Amino acid sequence: MTPTPIAPSTARTYPSVNIAHKLSLLHEHWSQRVVAEMNDYQFKIAKLQGDFVWHSHADTDECFFVVAGELRIDLRDGAVTLRAGEMFVVPKGVEHKPFAQNEAHVLLVEPRGVINTGGEESERTRANDVWI
Ligand code: NI
Repeated sequence: MTPTPIAPSTARTYPSVNIAHKLSLLHEHWSQRVVAEMNDYQFKIAKLQGDFVWHSHADTDECFFVVAGELRIDLRDGAVTLRAGEMFVVPKGVEHKPFAQNEAHVLLVEPRGVINTGGEESERTRANDVWI
């Protein structure tokens, strides 16, 4: 079957979520912003630079997808280095500490309500569920 070359004129135009554009609106490091939801999961963007704090999430895995730059995620028994286009899922309950020598842009996928510093409040804790 031949694909329709153009949408019918009556069709509604649905907005896409442009990750690069969303990132251009965010100017604070380590402050995540929600860009979309799927069921009870959220997609969040963040700009990371320097060292974060050790933490874990008792109730959920946490997915990091690197959009630009390079991110190292330290684990207590090793580390994973992610470059643009690469992702890693930190298992539930596993301590981790993100680190970026230079600014890295990431997309996080995790359930709604996850606090960025896990169970520990710190100066790095940021408001949750903030959309951009
Ligand atoms: Ni985390």
